[in-house]
Amino acid sequence: MRQAGRYLPEYRAIRSKHSFMEMCKIPEVAAEVTIQPVDLIGVDAAILFSDIMLPLEGMGAGLEFTESAGPIIKNPIRELNQVEDMHTFDVEDVMSYAFDAIKLIVKELGGRVPLIGFAGAPFTLASYLIEGGHSRNYTKTKIMMYNEPVVWHRLMTKLTDMLIGYLGAQVRAGVAAVQVFDSWIGCLSPGDYEEFAMPHSKRLFEGLKPLDVPTIHFGTETSTLIEKIRDAGGDVVGVDWRLNIDEGRRRIGYDRAVQGNLDPNVLFSNTKVIESHVRDILNRAGTHPGHIFNLGHGILPETPPANARALVEMVHELSAKGCAT
Ligand code: CP3
Repeated sequence: MRQAGRYLPEYRAIRSKHSFMEMCKIPEVAAEVTIQPVDLIGVDAAILFSDIMLPLEGMGAGLEFTESAGPIIKNPIRELNQVEDMHTFDVEDVMSYAFDAIKLIVKELGGRVPLIGFAGAPFTLASYLIEGGHSRNYTKTKIMMYNEPVVWHRLMTKLTDMLIGYLGAQVRAGVAAVQVFDSWIGCLSPGDYEEFAMPHSKRLFEGLKPLDVPTIHFGTETSTLIEKIRDAGGDVVGVDWRLNIDEGRRRIGYDRAVQGNLDPNVLFSNTKVIESHVRDILNRAGTHPGHIFNLGHGILPETPPANARALVEMVHELSAKGCAT
């Protein structure tokens, strides 16, 4: 969950010389910051340094990253003709920087840990395209769903097509698994998820099957949606801290793996408190195979790196012992 980033002084040193987009687009730089948390924090996998928003540029969206508000879309999508204007593109060519970075990272990692590729889910990407940026209530997104379902489904279909191609290209470049981030899906009611998002996510995961790599389906605030998210697909289903991971496992079923679910705010506490949360999660996850310990959402910018390191050590130590209270 955002292994690289502002919490690491070593990241900030590189970031002070480049914009965020430049860092994503210079393969040597992207490779360096991808590997930093493996060396500095000791995590068991690397995640490609990139962003869910970048392929939207290829489709013709004006993308900018601001310091204060995160990603911004300059001409938000509101009408059918704008959806029709979004074009297909040769992903291997237009996003060659990402695939060059992947090849470089795989080589530099030399098999130490696997590299995970990723993309945004259709709903989360559509919400950025329609709102123009991050949103509190997703009103514009929902109004398009309710009032212009044809436009909505057209947009979701185009995004899903693009995502299947983009993740396929990541796998061909060398990633060992792919994660699909549906970060803002928790704003939907179960009925709206089923009607407006799930068919597209399901088609995406179906489209990923031939790639033959493990897939992770991540979402937040999904307590009311978790069974449907499981049914949409993914070998691994993300669970955030709002749902206890034992309940998540029971509801998802033991034929899937789960990922989660430490509240990133716990890392601002002390090692005693962190350890009690880690023990609780490991004990709840139980001895069934298939639990990826992770934060429930992205690491926060002011997190003390020493606590991130301590967390990784605790998880390694306690899970090796089978953990007990
Ligand atoms: O190790 C890594 O950091 C992996 C690379 C990664 C980034 N973004 C880099 C990034 C990944 C996997 C993402 C995914 C992403 N991007 C998601 C899904 C995961 C999640 O957190 O829910 C979303 C919703 C985005 C969109 C996005 N990008 C936001 C909302 C922001 C700004 C807010 C924030 O947390 O900073 C970004 C910018 C961004 N993407 C940064 C990084 C390291 C910060 C850039 C900086 O240095 O200023």
